[in-house]
Amino acid sequence: MKVLTVVGARPQFMKAAAVSNVIREKDQEILVHTGQHYDENMSKVFFEELQIPKPDYNLGVGSGNHGKQTGTMLIELEEIYEKEKPDIVLVYGDTNSTLAGALCASKLLIPVAHVEAGLRSFNMNMPEEQNRILTDHISKYLFVPTNTAEKNLKNEGIKNGVYNVGDVMYDSVLRISKLAKENSRILEKLNLDDNDYILTTIHRAENTNDPKRLKNIIGALNESGKKVVLPLHPRTHKYMESYGLAFASNVKVVEPVGPLDMIALEMHSCKIATDSGGLQKEAFFVHKPCITMRDETEWVETVENGWNILVGADKNKIIDGINNFMPTSKQEEIFGDGTAANKIVEII
Ligand code: UD1
Repeated sequence: MKVLTVVGARPQFMKAAAVSNVIREKDQEILVHTGQHYDENMSKVFFEELQIPKPDYNLGVGSGNHGKQTGTMLIELEEIYEKEKPDIVLVYGDTNSTLAGALCASKLLIPVAHVEAGLRSFNMNMPEEQNRILTDHISKYLFVPTNTAEKNLKNEGIKNGVYNVGDVMYDSVLRISKLAKENSRILEKLNLDDNDYILTTIHRAENTNDPKRLKNIIGALNESGKKVVLPLHPRTHKYMESYGLAFASNVKVVEPVGPLDMIALEMHSCKIATDSGGLQKEAFFVHKPCITMRDETEWVETVENGWNILVGADKNKIIDGINNFMPTSKQEEIFGDGTAANKIVEII
């Protein structure tokens, strides 16, 4: 069996880290990196630290508007699919690389397997929501991480080929947290104490591209009265400069960090405030309260279980969440048992 995997952005590297090596135990994998993320600290460091096999192809697509970015990927991927003739194409999550990988395969009648299928925010303005829905509807194998994701697919009439296998990110985090404990020196490097800071990330287009929302979020962090550590996504940096926004001295801004340092920062934080999908789950995996700066979430179970709270881009709610939110219930097993990758490979 020849599996062709398409990755392109950080969250996909995290997921491929769990699955690629399992595929290669018995089958052949061709790994294609679209180059959507290209900075060393957003790409190369993930491959090195997570021991992901070296990509067979790097399309070097880089940044650009959605049409250009996705379109360039389609053109390049078609040539590779024609040459490699894979039995199946594997895509992850909801980025433009996911949609391009799936759409190109579907047009060539190559079966598509979608890992992290069925997630919905019900906000069609998000590029990720468009990518997810389109990808799910052209996939033959839909690997859902949660019960809610399975229900979402059923509601859209997708019943065949759906497998509830748990979340591959859980597999990854279990492995990476061990590596991080042994190898990360980020706390010393940033001069941080255990349980003494709020770890924050902001990068979603819905927040960065709207000056009012971004101003509220930065204002809340500045006025939170807490030490905040923020690995800054280049997109957020760019928009902050163009809106004339700046951080106060309680916010320690650092370059994007590699996966081991990120998990270490998560494990030693007191709380996590984010607009990322992946980080909401990672907060749950490392047992930290999560304050989500969005109006909706795909990971509703974490909210229902009391470990995640939605505060939107409302300044007062963010400050209140940072200072007062504390889970009171025990964690439930929402994301499977950490063996999702093995199940996926067995099924395909
Ligand atoms: C993408 C995904 C998002 C995912 C995120 C993880 C889409 C539509 N969005 O968003 O779902 O949560 O990845 O990080 O696919 N840039 C760099 N260096 C890089 C990569 C990006 O400087 O290596 C800058 C560029 O200025 C670029 C901007 O970041 O214009 C946005 O990058 P892009 O890949 O388009 O989307 P993300 O915001 O990273």
